[in-house]
Amino acid sequence: MTIQLGDTAPDFSAETTEGPIQFHQWMGNSWAVLFSHPKDFTPVCTTELGEVAKLKPEFDKRNVKVIGLSVDPMTSHKAWVGDIKETQGHALNFPLIADEDRKISNLYGMIHPKANDTLTVRSVFIIGPDKKVKLMITYPASTGRNFSEILRVIDSLQLTAKHSVATPVNWMNGQDVIIVPSVTDEQAKQKFPGGWKTLKPYLRIVPQPRG
Ligand code: BEZ
Repeated sequence: MTIQLGDTAPDFSAETTEGPIQFHQWMGNSWAVLFSHPKDFTPVCTTELGEVAKLKPEFDKRNVKVIGLSVDPMTSHKAWVGDIKETQGHALNFPLIADEDRKISNLYGMIHPKANDTLTVRSVFIIGPDKKVKLMITYPASTGRNFSEILRVIDSLQLTAKHSVATPVNWMNGQDVIIVPSVTDEQAKQKFPGGWKTLKPYLRIVPQPRG
């Protein structure tokens, strides 16, 4: 099955380092980041998991639960976590799925056989509280991800979920945003009473709405 943006994220049961979960139930009313890594006891993965542990308070602030996955067994995950703390200075503080039978990896298309026919690539899925897939990114095994970018996208997604705006190139939280083209100038007067700057009829810049 190919997952596309807007699809309901497939539900699944899993064994994790924090015990068994049912994915949708585990998410509750939160957003979720589900991400795969190729293999335990590998250098890039070790740095990535340490970074996600460091950024956990930032995910918490945004009501986002994070969960990792690889096809390694639970015994491997549990043996590896000490290395993450020792080398990255941050202990694992989120669940890691042991997907030994590749049930979830296959469900989410995380194994790309032309890259590697057994290991997961570095997939990222951002899923909204409505359980719909909001973003998918795939990185090769050799490139560690930039999880600050994942937080930046979450800020954009959460803003656009509340307001009729989109975020421009390289946008960072707090910067000006764009009024979406489907909003007429008449409607924009109601939504953005402080006004906006029109560079082109289709390119209207407005301060980031608050709240
Ligand atoms: C790594 O995490 O360093 C890694 C894992 C699999 C293939 C290549 C690199």
